[in-house]
This record gives sequence, structure tokens and C-alpha cells, in this order.
Amino acid sequence: MSSTTAPASAVPASAAPRAPHSEGPGEAELLDFVRRVAADTAYVGSLPLDPEGRTWLRLEGPGGSEAWLIGWPPGTGTGWHDHGGSRGAFAAASGALTEQSLAARIPTEGWRTLELADGVDRERVLSDGRGRAFGPHHVHQVLNQSEEHAVSVHAYYPPLPLMRRYSRTGQVLRLEHVEQPGEWE
Ligand SMILES: [Fe+2]
Repeated sequence: MSSTTAPASAVPASAAPRAPHSEGPGEAELLDFVRRVAADTAYVGSLPLDPEGRTWLRLEGPGGSEAWLIGWPPGTGTGWHDHGGSRGAFAAASGALTEQSLAARIPTEGWRTLELADGVDRERVLSDGRGRAFGPHHVHQVLNQSEEHAVSVHAYYPPLPLMRRYSRTGQVLRLEHVEQPGEWE
């Protein structure tokens, strides 16, 4: 059964550098968690859906991580943001989500506007339980560009200390707001 837990020694270490949060679950463990929750159709189906806006349930992630089940009606999205230095993972439990991300290391502080180099944009569509993990400097936005409601599972470690929200005009990224815990709950 899926409740069997592998011994810690059998879990492959993440290839990504762990500093400065060497303790706690790594990207691989977070990704494994969100994929397992995404496969739990009864649990995913328990999320109330609202055609007018996103809905969410907070859940306990592994090792003290912060986790969410999120419902996305067509046309909704997060806007560009980072995760305040936390690493994380998310998976599409039902429907399809588009992730647009930057393949560039963005300095976390000390700027208000930043001109992105050409060719840094990446886009992927996640569906059918597919997920992805990301490191502490990841900047992205997640959108439902499909015609169907989507549900996804997200986990972050450490629990999000803040989120930086950006606007984007062409290649210019602008820091708009630093969101504190509670503002997104
Ligand atoms: Fe995010």
C-alpha cells in the first residue's frame, strides 16, 4: 500500500545544494509528497470549487513544510512571485496548469526594477499528476489557461516567510509588494 514509508537511508539525497536550510525536507521529498497527495482522488475531490475564484485548503506537509490544495477556475493565476527563499514543489491533481518561469538567478533584494535577458522565459504545462520542484530563488507564475477547473497541490520548506510579488512589462520585472504570512491565507 502507499502508506509504506521507505527508511530515510533509502531516500536519495537531493542533488541541489541545501544551504542555507540544510535541515528539513528537500526538493525531492516535497515533490514526492505533492505527487502522492495529487494521486489521492478522494482527498482532492473534497476541495470545494468556486467558479468565481480560487479556493484552498491548508494541509500538513512533510517535516514541518507548508502545504496547500488549491482550486483554480479557468482564467485565474498567481501573477509573478517568488517564495521568500523557500524551496518547494507542486503538482497538478486534476485539470491542467501552465507555469511560466525564469531560467535566471534573480537577486532577492537590492533592486526595484530588473531588465531580464532575452531567452530566460520558460513555460510548461502540468497535468495528470505531473509535478515539478523548485529551488529557493525560483520566480514564476502559475495560471489556468484551460477551459476546465484545475486542482493542484503545493508544498514549501521552510514555511513561506514572505512572497515577493512582481509585475512584468516586456522584459522588465518590477517589485510591487512583499506579502507577509497571513495575507495569502
Ligand atoms: Fe509559487
